[in-house]
Amino acid sequence: PLPSFISDEETCERLRGLIHKQVQICKRSVEVMDAVRHGAQLAIDECQFQFRNRRWNCSTLETMPVFGKVVTQGTREAAFVYAISAASVAFAVTRACSSGELEKCGCDHNVHGVSPEGFQWSGCSDNIAYGVAFSQSFVDVRERSKGQSPSRALMNLHNNEAGRKAILSHMRVECKCHGVSGSCEVKTCWKAMPPFRKVGNVIKEKFDGATEVEQRKVGTTKVLVPRNSQFKPHTDEDLVYLDPSPDFCDHDPRTPGMLGTAGRQCNRTSKAIDGCELMCCGRGFQTEEVEVVDRCSCKFHWCCYVKCKQCRKMVEMHTCR
Ligand SMILES: *[C@@H]1O[C@H](CO)[C@@H](O)[C@H](O)[C@H]1NC(C)=O
Ligand SMILES: *[C@@H]1O[C@H](CO)[C@@H](O)[C@H](O)[C@H]1NC(C)=O
Repeated sequence: PLPSFISDEETCERLRGLIHKQVQICKRSVEVMDAVRHGAQLAIDECQFQFRNRRWNCSTLETMPVFGKVVTQGTREAAFVYAISAASVAFAVTRACSSGELEKCGCDHNVHGVSPEGFQWSGCSDNIAYGVAFSQSFVDVRERSKGQSPSRALMNLHNNEAGRKAILSHMRVECKCHGVSGSCEVKTCWKAMPPFRKVGNVIKEKFDGATEVEQRKVGTTKVLVPRNSQFKPHTDEDLVYLDPSPDFCDHDPRTPGMLGTAGRQCNRTSKAIDGCELMCCGRGFQTEEVEVVDRCSCKFHWCCYVKCKQCRKMVEMHTCR
């Protein structure tokens, strides 16, 4: 959906799926847009990884504008897509700052001096504040535009913020020791983002525990509250959704991305969602014997390589009808 190279202001006009205000931000920050594009790809890859064993496997994202109406209903899946997208933009822009690719930002210089634990802050601390602020302005601006339903705007903004929190609340301290032969006489440390896989895992956990909400008026403002009043209220880090998900069982040509599970591989022994019973929605499955080639009987040779044989074995592969 996004061109492979964003080089000048004109490219901003040609990007599909951006609203006018995003095109304006693009023009003002052309140098950041390559990181945004990279972030979008990161979000798609992570979504497909996290959902590889589920009926909905995130395949819709590939065929639609990345920040377009990716998921039109306010489902749990939409909540995940918004959270991971907002997080990925913050992540990729922060990475670009740290690697010195951008003129507008660099390392976080607010992290300096000696820590209470006695180590020296040094090196390049990730400037997560810059990445988060950019994501807030670029990604969230969609929800503040005309034509968006108020409750969907609240849902999307909440989930965007929850996605960014998944990075912010998992920042880590990385250190390096200095001194004779690896002794740690002097330790220098910097703040670093978690790997993006960790961010994906956190957001997937929030997906599993997402709260169904509805819009309610409190005084003059509208807020989202749990639909079931017995549930404890969601926090800033939780995902929320408005609409129950479809079962994703059948192909629906009228709904882009509703591919159904026919042809999907399943696990015959699993009782979970990747098992044939649930994955195939009770339609049954076909079993085929397929040959796989593996490395086997590997021997270590002095010095230093490993020599293996190629083994062929037959395995059963199950596919949903
Ligand atoms: C997702 O599932 C569809 C069928 O429902 C399949 O065609 C596609 O290859 C799958 N995508 C991934 C990334 O596994
Ligand atoms: C299938 O599911 C079982 C039980 O959950 C698991 O132990 C096994 O590793 C799975 N097989 C594959 C090929 O994923």
